This record gives sequence, structure tokens and C-alpha cells, in this order.
Amino acid sequence: MYLFHTRENYKVYHGKQWSCLNIWLILCLFPRTCVSNPSKPNFLLILADDLGIGDLGCYGNDTIRNVRIHGKFISKESRTPNIDGLAKEGVRLTQHIAAAAVCTPSRASFLTGRYPIRSGMASSTQRQILFWNGCSGGLPPNETTFARILHQQGYSTALVGKWHMGVNCKTRRDHCHHPLNHGFDYFYGMPFTLVNECQGTDDPELAKSLQDTYWLHTQMIILAVFTLVFGKLANLFPVKWKIIICLAICGLLHFLSWFSSYGFTKYWNCILMRNHDITEQPMNLDKTTPKMLKEAIMFIERNKHRPFLLFVSLLHVHTPLITTVKFQGRSRHGLYGDNVEEMDWMVGRLLEVIDKESLKNTTFIYFASDHGGSLEAHRGNSQLGGWNGIYKGGKGMGGWEGGIRVPGIVRWPGVLPAGTVIDEPTSLMDIYPTVVHLAGGSVPQDRVIDGHTLLPLLSGAVQHSGHEFMFHYCGVFLHAVRWHQKESGNIWKAHYATPVFQPETSGACFRRGICPCFGDDVTHHDPPLLFNLSQDPSEGNPLSADAEPLFGTVMRRIGKAVEEHHKTLSPVPQQLSPYNNIWKPWLQPCCGMFPFCWCHEENNKEDSIV
Ligand SMILES: *[C@@H]1O[C@H](CO)[C@@H](O)[C@H](O)[C@H]1NC(C)=O
Ligand SMILES: *[C@@H]1O[C@H](CO)[C@@H](O)[C@H](O)[C@H]1NC(C)=O
Ligand SMILES: *[C@@H]1O[C@H](CO)[C@@H](O)[C@H](O)[C@H]1NC(C)=O
Repeated sequence: MYLFHTRENYKVYHGKQWSCLNIWLILCLFPRTCVSNPSKPNFLLILADDLGIGDLGCYGNDTIRNVRIHGKFISKESRTPNIDGLAKEGVRLTQHIAAAAVCTPSRASFLTGRYPIRSGMASSTQRQILFWNGCSGGLPPNETTFARILHQQGYSTALVGKWHMGVNCKTRRDHCHHPLNHGFDYFYGMPFTLVNECQGTDDPELAKSLQDTYWLHTQMIILAVFTLVFGKLANLFPVKWKIIICLAICGLLHFLSWFSSYGFTKYWNCILMRNHDITEQPMNLDKTTPKMLKEAIMFIERNKHRPFLLFVSLLHVHTPLITTVKFQGRSRHGLYGDNVEEMDWMVGRLLEVIDKESLKNTTFIYFASDHGGSLEAHRGNSQLGGWNGIYKGGKGMGGWEGGIRVPGIVRWPGVLPAGTVIDEPTSLMDIYPTVVHLAGGSVPQDRVIDGHTLLPLLSGAVQHSGHEFMFHYCGVFLHAVRWHQKESGNIWKAHYATPVFQPETSGACFRRGICPCFGDDVTHHDPPLLFNLSQDPSEGNPLSADAEPLFGTVMRRIGKAVEEHHKTLSPVPQQLSPYNNIWKPWLQPCCGMFPFCWCHEENNKEDSIV
């Protein structure tokens, strides 16, 4: 063992070979000092559910909240102080765009860095999201999430919260779509999503969007089966029994799905899992928030000495707005506002732990929402969905800004300049290559990745984002295209189709839970509706070919980009097809003997995993 008493000695001994790496290795001999490798930051990615861009103080919401000081209420603070603080210490993106305006496809694109249509996670039917834990659709096992690459790079990876990317393919426990099969080492949360049914309110969310189609299909199939059986027995037409039996099974499944959507959703969909095990079926909503927070915090504490990736996929602020008693009735915006304040508090708790463990400068923190706030969510007169600020439309509307423009905040002190605001178009898909590169990995070369690494833009090394065109899908239907014309700095957006608002004034689609993407419920535009978002971010004044001299040029350029984009798409299995998105009893995750599925985690099993 050599000890270096003076600077000279050590220089002589090591000469030029003395490098950061050696310092790093020596520091690592002492575990306390061996914090994460600076070139391999930790990642804390926080994704809110259904949060509108206009809900946050740092995006212009001026609602203040009541703060109690010395027993007196004073109103001073923004109601989202923790998220605002992140923006103050980091970079705030003002044109951060989700690849879809509903959960399942938007989250698929976030995890894979690819438009959801590439992984088969975009729907060609009215059902744009997965409807069951017990359906066979989900994120295909051959998609590579950033979690998988980080796991390969030696990261400890976890998902706490909502998944909504499917569970099983063929059997009840194959877990082919499960987070643990997609690169996460640890999972605690909901394999599905919060829906009103979880709370047992009288306002069923899933049943409402299912009942008409399921019941109609069931009736049609029963009629067809009876006709065929009659025809076969009476020798009227030759049909194989095989076909009749297949059809009958199909009818039975449809009937079961319809039947299950009444009253059983809570047992089938509202469950909590830890890794491969169900811990609560149905879940106890009162305890979910503190439990999730505890899981996230414990994960950080368990992994503070090694690089980690923690994806906190919040259940907030999706209906039914589970809010703990402490936050009920606190805000100026009713049930929804309370939930927003609680979400901000949760973010604050996570930041506290990062600070406390001295991980602040070595942790890349990202906060965003999966898509815009829901205009349709309300009970009576009170709005239960998010506020999309000056932007038109909301959740479910793949083209309008309100559905896809979301908050996007990144903080990494010492690397990213504090208090920066970037107006360039960026995408949730950009997180994929950004995270992968920073972790020392490389993105898959055998497929198209649509995201662009954000680091040069965030750190100020370049002025423009990598996105010249962005394609705004509603299901598999291309509704709009955005063009960032770099020479002029203009952002153009052309809409080929827009949802029909009912009524137009409220900006909401009342027809179904979520705006449809095709059929009678959308208006097709030829020529397309063109907006200059740089001047008209609210998309209030479509430009006409007569008034806008560049109309033809812009439309031709966008048309060409669409053509080129189409060439990069290839057919893949449809994960949201009717067959893949129907309830299959044999795929239903169940903690007991199916169909007797209920269980509760009584004792504090959590402690055993520390
Ligand atoms: C702030 O958000 C609430 C909903 O969360 C909304 O009702 C209110 O209009 C927003 N205020 C501004 C100024 O955007
Ligand atoms: C963290 O980064 C900030 C900003 O560069 C710097 O002022 C601070 O000293 C750093 N803290 C540590 C512990 O390195
Ligand atoms: C995944 O497999 C499907 C076929 O099952 C194929 O169509 C698709 O291209 C594959 N995706 C990737 C990224 O390899």
C-alpha cells in the first residue's frame, strides 16, 4: 500500500495515468463516499395522470392556496409550490407534447420512445385504452423500454404506481406484459388505472363506455348463433359445427364482459400488486396514496448507493380523485383542486428524500403529465378534470393542443441551467433516448425511435430541438401534423380531422367518456385546418388559402412529410383489437381461486422487503 504524503509524490507515482476513474475507484473503496457515478445520474421520472398544463403555478395558474401560519390562514403561496420549485431550479418546457391524448398509447410511447402505432398500442376501434387487467393486449414483450436498457446498464429500476400496459398474454400468470417483464426490477402499484368503479360511485366510467357496444354485439351474436343452429338442423344451409361453436364462445365472452362491467370491475381491475403478487383485490383507496409514497421513498433509500431509475407513475389526478382526509376541502377548486394540491405535496415529499440523501446533484428529475386534462369529467356542476389553460380541447382529442400539450420540467442541478424556459417543440418520447444515453446505453438500432435526445437542448448547447415534424394521432388515425419551420421560426399545425364538440361552446365531447377518433363523431377537413401556433396558440383562427400566402407551400411540405412518415410504418399485431381488449376470465389476475378473488394485505409485509 502506498501512501501519498505530498502532492509531488503522488504525481510521480501515477504520472499521467492518474485519472478521474482512479479517484472514482479509490472513493469506492469507502462505501459511504461511493455515491453514484457522476456520468451515470439517478433518474426520478414522475408522470401525473390527466393533469392539465394550466393547473400548475409555473405554467401560469395564479390560484393561491391557504397557508396556515400561527393559526391564521393567509393566502400567499402558489398551490403547487413543489412543482413550481422544480421549474425554478431546472428547465421548463412550454411545448412539451404527448404522442397520444389518452393513457395507454401515450404511456406506451413514453416507455418506448416510439409513436404508439409502431408498437400496436394505438387503437383502430372506439376503445382507445385497455379495458381490463384480464385482456390479452398490452405492451408487446419485444418492445424495449428504457427501463430494460437501464437495467442492462447496471441500474436498479422500479415502477411505483400506474401501469395500464396489460398483464397477461395466454395464461393467468404468464405476466408477459407486466412491468417486471419490461425491465423493471421492482413494481408496486396498479397494473390498471384508476376509474370511478374503484370507488363504487354511482357514476361508472368503464361500464358507460362499454354497455352500448357490448350489449349490441352480444345480441347480434346470439341471434346469429340461433339462426345458424336452426339452419343447420333444418338443413337449410351447410355450416360447420366448429364455426357455430366458435361464434357461441365469442358471444359468451361478450356477454361476460358486459356482465362484468357492472359491479365486478372493482374486483377485476382495481387491484394492487407488488412484483408478481396481488396485495389487494379490490384495493383500499384510502390507503393507496400513503402506501405508494412510502414505496417510492423506500426504493430511493434502498438504492441511494447505486444508480437507480424510479418511475413514479402517479394515480393523481385521475377520477375518482382519491384524496386523503388531510387534503379534502382545502383548495379553492373543489375536489379536483384538493387532488392537485395533494399531488404537489407528494412530489415535495419525493424531493425531500432526494435532498436528505444528498442525491440532488446526481439525480435527473423529470415531471410531466401523460396528456391533457379531461373536459368530460364532471359531476353535476363541478369540474373534475384538469385545466388546459389557453389551449383548445382536452383528453381524448389527439389533435387539439389541450389534449397533448402538457407540463414538462427537468431538474439536474449543476448540469442544467436553473430557471430556464424552452419553447421548442419537445416530446414525451424524447425522455427515452435522453435517459438511455445518460445511462451510458444506446437505443435499439433495429427499429425506428421517434424521440430525440434532449440533453443538448436542455443544457443550452443547441438552440433547436430535433423535431421538425410531429404527428398527432388519435388511435391509428392521423388527425394533425405540426411543422416547426426552422428558417422562419414558425410552428404550423394542420388538422385533417377534429372531434365534434357537443356542444361546441364547452369544448367537450359529451357523446361518450372519451372523444371518438373516427366515424360520424369527427369532422374531416379538406383542405386541412391550418394554424400558425406561434401567433395563435389557442387555435382560434384557421388560416385560409386566400389570406395566408404560405398556405400552399406549408400544406405541400406537411403532405410530403406525412408521406415519408407513412413509409416508416409497418403492420404489427393490434394490441387494442376487439379480441385483445375483451375480458378473458382465464387471464384475470386473481389472488384466490378464480372467481373468488379478494384479499388484503393485513400485516406490514412491506417491512420484509427493505
Ligand atoms: C387554475 O386551475 C383551476 C383548475 O385546477 C382552474 O379552474 C383555474 O381557472 C386556473 N386558473 C388560471 C388562471 O388558469
Ligand atoms: C450542486 O450543484 C450546485 C449548482 O451547480 C452547486 O452550487 C452545489 O455546490 C452542488 N452541491 C454539491 C454537494 O456538489
Ligand atoms: C415484435 O413482434 C411482432 C410480431 O409478433 C413484429 O411484427 C414486430 O415488428 C416486432 N417488433 C419489434 C420492435 O421487433
